[in-house]
Amino acid sequence: DTVFVLNGPNLNLLGLREPEIYGADTLDDIAGMLEDRARELDLTVDVRQSNHEGHLVDWLHEANAAGAKAVLLNAAGYTHTSVALHDAIKAIAVPVIEVHLSNPHRRENFRHHSYVGGAARGTIAGFGAMSYLLALDAAARL
Ligand code: DQA
Repeated sequence: DTVFVLNGPNLNLLGLREPEIYGADTLDDIAGMLEDRARELDLTVDVRQSNHEGHLVDWLHEANAAGAKAVLLNAAGYTHTSVALHDAIKAIAVPVIEVHLSNPHRRENFRHHSYVGGAARGTIAGFGAMSYLLALDAAARL
């Protein structure tokens, strides 16, 4: 079974970008950790990143068409703006788990609302790279 791991804008800069908030791991580091854990869980991960909202919408549709087991979605800034991502999650049968490195509820007010969270199966936030690993474990048990 395949789990899609979709990452939104600016996450290509992980490791360099505000490391005091997002940690020192790069997205490649996180992808490596996910691949190791996926092997133990007898899963395959397909890790992608885009700075473009429509790519994330297309990839949600693709995950659905491919019969993916689950999607882990860190929509980054689009979390707080994107009705299109909310609608795409609602439109597909694949369960989507919202993931964040930081805990948006501890941060600025504009991060307190999530369009993704209102459609996702559940949310894991605040544990840095470990948020992704916890989400993968949750996906394996769905
Ligand atoms: C983030 C939290 C968002 O508020 C922010 O816009 C990001 C990253 C996180 O993983 O902590 O880009 O999704």
